[in-house]
Amino acid sequence: MIRLDEEIKKMEDEISQKLENANSLKELQDIRVEYLGKKGKITTLLKNLKNLPRDQKPIYGKKINELKDKLEKEIEKHRSRLEEIEENRRLEQERVDITLFGARRSIGHRHLVSMVMEEIEDIFISLGYEIAEGPEAETEHNNFDALNTPEWHPARDEHDTFYISRKDGILLRSHTSPVQIRTMLSKSPPIKIIAPGKVYRRDYDATHLPMFHQVEGLLVDRKVSVAHLKATLDFFAKKMFGPERKTKFVPSFFPFTEPSFEVYVSFGDGWLEILGAGMVDPNVFKAVGYDPEEWTGFAFGMGVERIAMLKYGIDDIRMFVRNDLRFVRQF
Ligand code: PHE
Repeated sequence: MIRLDEEIKKMEDEISQKLENANSLKELQDIRVEYLGKKGKITTLLKNLKNLPRDQKPIYGKKINELKDKLEKEIEKHRSRLEEIEENRRLEQERVDITLFGARRSIGHRHLVSMVMEEIEDIFISLGYEIAEGPEAETEHNNFDALNTPEWHPARDEHDTFYISRKDGILLRSHTSPVQIRTMLSKSPPIKIIAPGKVYRRDYDATHLPMFHQVEGLLVDRKVSVAHLKATLDFFAKKMFGPERKTKFVPSFFPFTEPSFEVYVSFGDGWLEILGAGMVDPNVFKAVGYDPEEWTGFAFGMGVERIAMLKYGIDDIRMFVRNDLRFVRQF
C-alpha cells in the first residue's frame, strides 16, 4: 500500500499548492470540482476503496476522509481570503475620482436689451422714479386720442400700426406713452414714473424692428420747466454714455408735448439723437382730468435698442433678434 500512501501524500501537496495559487472564487470552485466533484480525484479514491483488502479498507478510508475534510476546511479558509480580494478589486474598479472636472452646464445670461433696459431703469430709480407698466394691447384712446394725437396723424394709419380690432379700437401699442395716461388716470400728482416695455410698429430694416423696447418717462408737479427736463436728461446721458458727454435739445414735434425736443448726445465730433421729449401738452392733462393751470410736467421716450446700439457700436438692429451666439456672447 506504499503506492496509495504516496498518492495521498502527493495529492495533499498538490492541493495545498493549488489553493495557495488560487486567485479567484472561480478557481477555488474549479479545485473543489477537481477533487470533490462526482468524478473528482478524492471521490474516485473513495470509490476504489472497495478494491482494497478487507483489513486495509478502514485505514485508508480514514486517511482519505481526513484528506477530504482537510480540503473542505482549506477551501472555506481560502474562500474568505478570496472574497476579500474580489471585494477590493470591485471597489477599485468602481472607484470615482471626485477630483475630475464634471461636464459643465453652460448657463446663459441676460439679453443685451434686458441689460441696457435695467441700466436705464437704475439711473432713473436713483433719481426717485417709480416703475409703471401697461398692457401691450392698448386702446386707441390711450395710445392716440388721450395723447392729443388727432385722427389725421400718420401713426394712426393701419400701415404703421398693428390693429387687433379696428372696430373695437384695440391695437398693439406703438409707443409706451399710453402708460402716461394710465398712470395719470390712476394716481393724483405729483407723479414721477418710468415705463419700460415692448412696443410695435410696421417697420423692418437695419434700424427698425416691428417689436422693440422703449422706456417712457413722466414727471408731473407744480412749476415744472424745461430746465428740469434738460437737467434730468443731461444727467441720464452722462450716466449712460460717460461724464464727458454733452446733450443738445433740438426743437421737434410730438402731439402730446409742447414744446417738443429731439435730444442729442455728443459722440466724438458729432451728435446722435437718443430720444424724444417735451413738456406735457395741456390737452393731455385735460384728457385725464388734471387742471392744466395747476399742473405742469415733462415726458420723454427712448428706444432701448437704439441706446444699446449707440453704446456698444452695433450697426444693425436685427442682430438683437438673430440669435447668433457670437453676437449674444459678447455682452
Ligand atoms: N412716444 C414718442 C415716440 O415713440 C416719444 C416721446 C415720449 C416723445 C414722450 C415725447 C414725450 O416717438
